[in-house]
Amino acid sequence: MRLIIFGPPGVGKGTQAKLLSEERSIPHISTGDMLRSAAAGGTSLGKKAKAIMDAGQLVPDDVMIGIVREVLASPRAAAGFVLDGFPRTSDQARALAGIFRDLGITSYWVLNLEVDDEEIIRRLGARLVCRKEGRIFNSETDGLTLTSQCPECGGELIQRDDDKPDTVRKRLQVYHAQTEPVIGFYRAAGVVVDVDGTNSIDVVRREIRVLLNDLQAR
Ligand code: AP5
Ligand code: MG
Repeated sequence: MRLIIFGPPGVGKGTQAKLLSEERSIPHISTGDMLRSAAAGGTSLGKKAKAIMDAGQLVPDDVMIGIVREVLASPRAAAGFVLDGFPRTSDQARALAGIFRDLGITSYWVLNLEVDDEEIIRRLGARLVCRKEGRIFNSETDGLTLTSQCPECGGELIQRDDDKPDTVRKRLQVYHAQTEPVIGFYRAAGVVVDVDGTNSIDVVRREIRVLLNDLQAR
């Protein structure tokens, strides 16, 4: 199964992508996670990317397209994947179509998660992430604080630097201006599956499972 998980910052892409990756035994390929890991490693790409991410802007298309081409062509993605955070611009969407053509990929779905900006600001203000394994939590719904340990591995919980209120507002502006229109490209191709992201994590998970099972049974 080849999936693109699409939607605004904080809608729950990473949360649902991790669940899908576990349930379906396919890799979760997150461009944001890859950039954060490059930043933590202090590579030259990582340092440049960190400054751009902290400003709520997008890393240049050519850099992102190169990274995604390499990972999708690798053996780990051969039997399927859930791609999270890419494409984010129309040039990235066109490039991804070319990558799929080169790799002989003809079947894929775009899960389009939707919630309003007010809920996004609330979710991102309360997000906690495990430094070690990247698991995603929420202080409001999971009863955790910055001093708690990761319930899964005991690791340290942190807030993402780009979850500061000013950066979240900028990320939302960039999303509406540059990323949201990309869904039109996929609607025209008839591959979009709309999912209401306002429900609880478990309700969204079950809705996605039903929708994907229906598609597979067709
Ligand atoms: P990226 O890491 O992709 O960030 P994003 O798209 O802004 O999305 P987030 O990771 O913030 O949110 P999410 O939708 O994954 O939500 P989550 O599941 O964590 O990218 C970061 C930056 O990298 C970009 O700004 C850009 O600079 C750069 N970048 C990355 N890809 C790029 C590209 N292709 N081109 C250019 N630049 C790129 O959930 C959020 C919170 O809500 C959590 O606390 C969670 O517990 C909670 N939650 C989740 N679901 C629910 C629910 N159903 N109900 C209640 N709470 C929920
Ligand atoms: Mg994410």
